[in-house]
Amino acid sequence: MSEIVDPAAMVEPKRVKLHPFPIMVGPVTHLANERERLGTLTYDGFSVRQLGATIGGLVSGVDLTGHVDDQLVAELRRCLLDFKVLFFRNQPFTPEQHVAFARRFGHLEIHPFIPSNTSQPELVRFEKEAQVGGFENVWHSDVPWRSVPSAAAVLHAIELPPIGGDTVFCDMYAAYEGLDQKTKDRIANLSAVNDFTKAFGHTLDDAGRKAMHEQYPPATHPVVRTHGETGRKLLYVNRAFTESIVGLSEVEGNALIDFLSSQTNTIEYQCRFTWEEHSVAIWDNRAVQHFALSDYWPRRRVMERASIIGELPV
Ligand code: SIN
Repeated sequence: MSEIVDPAAMVEPKRVKLHPFPIMVGPVTHLANERERLGTLTYDGFSVRQLGATIGGLVSGVDLTGHVDDQLVAELRRCLLDFKVLFFRNQPFTPEQHVAFARRFGHLEIHPFIPSNTSQPELVRFEKEAQVGGFENVWHSDVPWRSVPSAAAVLHAIELPPIGGDTVFCDMYAAYEGLDQKTKDRIANLSAVNDFTKAFGHTLDDAGRKAMHEQYPPATHPVVRTHGETGRKLLYVNRAFTESIVGLSEVEGNALIDFLSSQTNTIEYQCRFTWEEHSVAIWDNRAVQHFALSDYWPRRRVMERASIIGELPV
């Protein structure tokens, strides 16, 4: 890696507005420390190639399909907290192996809306083809409409289209840290109501929706969440599941949800992964949002996901 001057010792270049458009151009300077920190990390059990500035590590030198010892799990956990999403090639999981591996990270959730793998109810199966399009092409974290959303997910690529079907991940710490101080102060103590209806309501009739709402009532979580393990602050709202902001009118709340969600558009906060058959991703569902490109219709794309139950967001 080339040496850089200590960013703290440099005059920070200012980003400028590209008149008349509401966009800023110029270096995204607040990424520098985290980017350099990730570049220094090493692990005993595997090597990691850094993919984005502050997010994404391609891990090589491990086999996740067999016995994964405690030391490797501990290192992978540490690596996940650092890189936020990890990718692995050539991990031909059976459904049983997939579930067994994911269980090393905690208890697994059962998703009430997405169909499961018939032999393993803990695996949700995304089976897309001509009749079933991909609707996950919106920035989101998984299940924030649960009172206890998942901490992490393990996604396995089973069948892929010849072109397309990448997944993009966004570092939500960077998204928070990039906000101006006035916005940070404004949102510091706000809470948001998260609900499944926009994403999954259309799969149910009125009675089904009512029954599911009794089981999964809207969940109120902080707009700025503090990660339970890293202690870092991150933005925890998204357009797919965040319904409203407590104490704000619908118009004001929607404008704020839209603005905060739009931070994911900053490409410097992202990494993009092109899947191969039997690639696996593990993401920290607290620290990142993801967007599954839906650019392959009417081709087939089959993925399976196991999700690890997390903690109450604070
Ligand atoms: C999801 O968890 O939203 C699915 C991601 C993907 O299919 O790439």
